Parts: sequence; C-alpha cells; structure tokens
Amino acid sequence: MSSKERFADKMEMPPKTEGPNVYPLSWVAKTQKMEEIWQASQREFWDPQKLPWDTFDPSRYSWEERESIAYWWTILSVFDASAPPVFAAAMIKTYEDHEEDPVRRCFFSVTRDEQNHEQLCGMAITKLLEHTDPLTYIPKTDIGRRLQKNAHWLYFNGGRYWSGYKNAVPKYSLAVLFSSFLMGEIAAATIFHQMSKGCAEPVFQEGFKNIGRDEGRHMAICMSLMERDYPKLKVEDRALITKQIRAGYLFLSAVLFEPPMEFWDLPNDFIANQREAEEIARAAGFGIPTYDAKKENWKNAMLNLKGVLDKYNIPFPAIPEVGITGEEVRDVDMEDIIPVF
Ligand SMILES: [Fe+2]
Ligand SMILES: [Fe+2]
Repeated sequence: MSSKERFADKMEMPPKTEGPNVYPLSWVAKTQKMEEIWQASQREFWDPQKLPWDTFDPSRYSWEERESIAYWWTILSVFDASAPPVFAAAMIKTYEDHEEDPVRRCFFSVTRDEQNHEQLCGMAITKLLEHTDPLTYIPKTDIGRRLQKNAHWLYFNGGRYWSGYKNAVPKYSLAVLFSSFLMGEIAAATIFHQMSKGCAEPVFQEGFKNIGRDEGRHMAICMSLMERDYPKLKVEDRALITKQIRAGYLFLSAVLFEPPMEFWDLPNDFIANQREAEEIARAAGFGIPTYDAKKENWKNAMLNLKGVLDKYNIPFPAIPEVGITGEEVRDVDMEDIIPVF
C-alpha cells in the first residue's frame, strides 16, 4: 500500500488499523492491583541527587578501598545500566499489545526507577574514582589494575546480552517475559536489602533502601501480572519459563553470588581478584555479604521464586550450585537471556 493512497474519498469510515501498533487509544483498567502499585511508585519516587552526599567524603578511604568499592558498583552497573533500555523496550511492548492503562504506567515507572538506579551507580563510581567511568580510569593501585581487567571482562560479557534480548522481546509473550523479570526483581530486592543493612555510609544506606523499595514494587508488578495471566498460560510457555529461570540464575549469579565459568567467559584470576576486592571493601565498612551469606541468600531467593512458580505448575530448573533439585536445563547461552534487574 502506498502511503499516498487515499481512503477518505472512498469510504465513510477508515480501514481497520493493523496491530501491533504503539497506539492503543484506550484506557482500560481492570487490574486494580496495578493501579495501587502505580500510585505507590508516584508516592515513593526519589531523586539520587538529593541523597545525603554532603556526608560522603571519599578521601576518608585509601585508594585500595575506593577502587574496591567502585568495583562493586561496576559489577552492579553491568546489570543496572542496561535496565533502563531493557524496560523501555518492555514498555513499548505493553503499548503494542494494547495492555491495560495501569500496566503501561507500571512499566513506565519501572523504566524511570531503573534510570534512577543507574544514576546512583554513576554517581558512586564517579565520586569514588574521580573519573566518570571505570573502564578508561587510570588505576592507582595494584588491586585497582587487576579489578579494571575484571571490569573489562564483565563489560565484554554483558555486551552480548542486548542482541539476545532484542530478539526475545517480540518473540515471547509478556507472560514469559514476566517470569524472567520476576527473577531479576527477587534477586535485586534481596541484594539491596542486604547492602543497606551492611553499609556504614549513610548515603549508601539510604540509596540501597530506596532501590530495595523500588525493586519490591517491581516484584509486585510481575506477581500481579502472573496472577492475571498464568492461569491461562500455554503449555509450551511453561518449558520456556523453566529454561529462562536457569538462564537467569547463571546470568544474575555474577552480581548475587559468583559468575559461573561455564556461562561467563572470564579469565582464571577473575574470582580471586574479586574476592580480594570484596574483602577490602568489607573491611572499609562497605558490607558486601560473604561467600556463604551470598550463597544462602541466593538460595532463599530461588526458593521464593520456586514457591511462586509451583503455584502455576511450572517446573523449576535444577540449581545444583545452591543445592536445589529440579528439571535439568542444559546449553544455556548469553543470547538466551531475558532476566534483568
Ligand atoms: Fe534496579
Ligand atoms: Fe527492578
């Protein structure tokens, strides 16, 4: 059809507009829970620039400490810096699918929240390193140099995720996407709760508390959409979800636990360097959980998710790394990943 073709001379009413188009022109509201979550997001909105930055003096820390703490924020950024575009793409899908108005607004709120989280990562790194990014920064210490190598490898791995995600969004129903999102949100709520308890700096405590509250809302969004859609979930979608959960475990372990080497393409000294940095950061009052605490927390987060999926008879994958038995899922690739923060 040429764009010049005129219809108005030929017919009384225009032809039907084919979907998908980002143009619902309707404001249906059926899921009351989504309306409540949206209103909470309006009330709880916060500004990273208004955190008590005046109480934060990085010069109180040694350069080893600054580089180690900045490294943790860098790991977080590998996940959080992709979250705004990832959720923006999901938000566009809610418009194309002509989702309910409060659902569209909820995805908008997640996109906005994730932008805040990314800002906080940037502010923390910039203040700690006195440089606007961890990759071109010139390290001042030996551990700083080794951590920068780690950061480059993380960045390389994370960079492969976007092309897979872009393919997945049009291919999968929102219902499949939710379970992957939920996985990310449970993981995120878990880690930020731990970090706010474990950090001595008021600015980090408050930042983590705010992010944790946002992630709790994101979790609630996923849960209420699952409640709405999962009773009528297609059988073939169930297997897809099981695979996505295993993929999400492998992907998110890099920030919640430690990166599994069969999935993350990383050098041999990666974990040793990271553990050394975590030790330094912890001793400086930046409370990254210990190996055992991470493992326990990550396991509990997985069991929470299992509890949700069990209700809808979706088989849970085996996660032998934290002692969870289930359906074996093999051959997961970076290109298969949907889960995000
Ligand atoms: Fe986030
Ligand atoms: Fe989130």
